[in-house]
Amino acid sequence: MLAWLRELPVSERDAAFEQLLGIDDSPPQRPLGEGRMGYMPSGISAIVRTVLDAPIGPDDVFVDLGSGLGKVVMAVHLLTGARARGVEVQPELAARARERAHDLALDVAFADGDALNANLDDATVFFMYLPFTGDVLAGVMDRLRAVAERKPIVVCALGLDLHATDWLVERPTQEFWLAIYDSRVHGPDAPPRAAVRPRAWTALAEDIAHER
Ligand SMILES: C[S@@+](CC[C@H](N)C(=O)[O-])C[C@H]1O[C@@H](n2cnc3c(N)ncnc32)[C@H](O)[C@@H]1O
Repeated sequence: MLAWLRELPVSERDAAFEQLLGIDDSPPQRPLGEGRMGYMPSGISAIVRTVLDAPIGPDDVFVDLGSGLGKVVMAVHLLTGARARGVEVQPELAARARERAHDLALDVAFADGDALNANLDDATVFFMYLPFTGDVLAGVMDRLRAVAERKPIVVCALGLDLHATDWLVERPTQEFWLAIYDSRVHGPDAPPRAAVRPRAWTALAEDIAHER
């Protein structure tokens, strides 16, 4: 998949990838009320950067909070083999994501509902692309902190500022839009995470993550 993406002009990669997944149109959306943002898919370069830098590997459990049509969940699963799922407050979007994953025979899941009430306990890596703000974000961060009380987690935030969260430590990064944070709830830092990958895979992924 990375080699296929790398051959495409940068400006065509997202459209081609969404077409491959069958999520290449603009779905009708519900009004979501205060603090809940509408659907807009993440760019593939940011998704690949997340996979590289988190890093996400086959032993991770990845959750996209506000998963829309499922682009991030499906991409992360395809790229890493991680168990991946999404939670989405617009049931029509979650239903379409489930349908597409089923057609593609991808072993991923999409739950209907609000991230405030989602099952988060088994996850090791969380992703959010500007799904909510204000009180909803504060409530979800309280839930993530409860998960981090039991084990270290990684929180990947695209277009969302989590600097005020005192139990998260941001990794140094060159990225403007994407921030990666490690939890630090009790005691010393968790040991650094690692993913063993073929050098050629990493080189391709770095190209795609770099070229926007
Ligand atoms: C900017 S889109 C990101 C979609 C997807 N994560 C991606 O990056 O391609 C934000 C999504 O969050 C969903 N959302 C908003 N508030 C939510 C909530 N409280 N719980 C679950 N999903 C929510 C929206 O319906 C929308 O699909």
